[in-house]
Amino acid sequence: MCGIVGYVGNQEAVPILLEGLHRLEYRGYDSSGLAVCTRGGLKVHKAEGKIQQLETRLPKRLKATTGIAHTRWATHGEPSDRNAHPHTDCTGRIAVVHNGIIENGAELRARLLAAGHELRSDTDTEVLAHLIASAGGADLEESVRRALGAIEGTYGLVVVDERFPDRIVAARNGSPVVLGIGEREMLVASDVAALVRHAERVVYLDDREVVSIRASGFSTTTLEAEPIEKSATPIPWKVELYDRGAHEHFMRKEIEEQPEAVERSLRGRLDARFGIAHLGGLNLSARDLLEVRRIKLLGCGSAYYAGLVGAHMLERLTRIPTDAEAASEFRYRSPVIEKDTLYVAISQSGETADTLAAVREVRRKGGRVLGIVNVVGSTIARECDGGIYMHAGPEVAVASTKAFTCTLVCVALLALHLGRIRDLSPSDGKRILDALERLPEQIRTILTATDQIRAVAERLKDRNDAFFIGRAAGYGVALEGAQKLKEISYIHAEAYPASELKHGPLALVSPETPTVAIVPNDDLFEKSLSSLEEIRARRGPVIAIAHNGDARLHALADDVIVVPRSEPVLDPILMTVPTQLLAYECAIALGRDVDQPRNLAKSVTVE
Ligand code: F6R
Repeated sequence: MCGIVGYVGNQEAVPILLEGLHRLEYRGYDSSGLAVCTRGGLKVHKAEGKIQQLETRLPKRLKATTGIAHTRWATHGEPSDRNAHPHTDCTGRIAVVHNGIIENGAELRARLLAAGHELRSDTDTEVLAHLIASAGGADLEESVRRALGAIEGTYGLVVVDERFPDRIVAARNGSPVVLGIGEREMLVASDVAALVRHAERVVYLDDREVVSIRASGFSTTTLEAEPIEKSATPIPWKVELYDRGAHEHFMRKEIEEQPEAVERSLRGRLDARFGIAHLGGLNLSARDLLEVRRIKLLGCGSAYYAGLVGAHMLERLTRIPTDAEAASEFRYRSPVIEKDTLYVAISQSGETADTLAAVREVRRKGGRVLGIVNVVGSTIARECDGGIYMHAGPEVAVASTKAFTCTLVCVALLALHLGRIRDLSPSDGKRILDALERLPEQIRTILTATDQIRAVAERLKDRNDAFFIGRAAGYGVALEGAQKLKEISYIHAEAYPASELKHGPLALVSPETPTVAIVPNDDLFEKSLSSLEEIRARRGPVIAIAHNGDARLHALADDVIVVPRSEPVLDPILMTVPTQLLAYECAIALGRDVDQPRNLAKSVTVE
């Protein structure tokens, strides 16, 4: 998704803006650009393609201490130099970068054209530059506020005006904007990642707020010009965590970081004496939690699949009926919101527009929502009634890995917490707790199987299609495994509950179509073996992700990737890791752009 960075201070702005853009690359983009206030006025440079294209176009001497920059992910108008941001007004004195969608953009464009404005791009953003330039007002802040009065839609917006080279004005409605406070310098961005090198504290704008930023500080108002006090919070993650280090890809790094990430998710939350989990941020008393009659998990993509797996954990440990639903569809079916249902929104970024809309739908109708979120201070984290932070550390690769496992750890903690308030015995609680504590070491063990998985991937990579199957919670793992393979290797993969295979998809099983089967040695093991028999009878290759020791399984599968045993409710966490490695190794073998797969963006902030 699009990324924004702005700088005002006493250092050279251009290198800081470019560095910020590079830090936002992971979000996915198709063009980039920047605008700086120089002595000779506003200068704008843009280029389709990678940021390197922009860098090669920049003049050697582009001196400025105020500027804004953008990575664009096309929504209105094809990717091109012309449609790249920043966009300017007719005179070229005002430049705007924008994330979001101006819903009445077409109408405003027609009005501006009729009034004699010359618009040069196909974007909805360009109208903003023209509106601001013609809004009047004593200063840039006022012009921006006036122009935004005419706007319907969502925006994270940053503006510079050559007449006010000492400031940047930013505004937010539905698309994140965060200020970074440095030493006599200020930054603004759509994502903390772009600020980490220069700021130690951040301020999150809320919807319908406008901020005027100078090197020495900032002032915030509502769209109606009411002043607002905002407080700064420290950036939670160290700058090094955003670096790839010695790893070839962020995805690989993030897969390998999982033991430490899980340790962080667990840290300070387990109490072995009573077999319970402490979750400080829930903002719900034991009495509130006893009234919960139903739980619904909401998320998109991998977060939804984590919800499907998590629903099994919660239901098993709490005996509260639990299900998961795609947050992207939730609001469109006018859901019935019940007071005694606990809603849980899952989002790594905390900014996914569809998940946020689901949270708002629940709250509008009087329901309570907890968030399981990774990014501290993100919109979903702030809008939920309470929640659990994943503490996975920054996830940069588009394909989610450590956030998936840490989500499941957080759901397990919630299940333990709720379960122990209800019927889960202290000894059962203790067993789950011990198993949670063993997870990091067990993940380390799985990570040592990379050579075997690479060899499997070497064969899988030449296939056009694959099935992923699993039972109960294993089906969620299968969905996530298939998603990873599709996203980064572009091999078509479909996930099915193992028992559904014979109801249709078996028609496609053949020696050309391998099946990755999630086969924990649990009470459904025998049933899973029957599914594998069905596949073998059609000479379909089988890659089993399983526990050790069953000769029948080894006889049925071409490859068995063995994972250590945990408690049955936690097995899905461990079984996910080989699916991540398998997708990664296939993508590498096929020479794919692992961290930035085609057509995809990290953190989907538009509907
Ligand atoms: C898949 C992936 C996406 C995200 C989804 C939700 O690898 O990363 O499916 O899981 O877009 O994102 P968050 O968790 O940020 O709400």
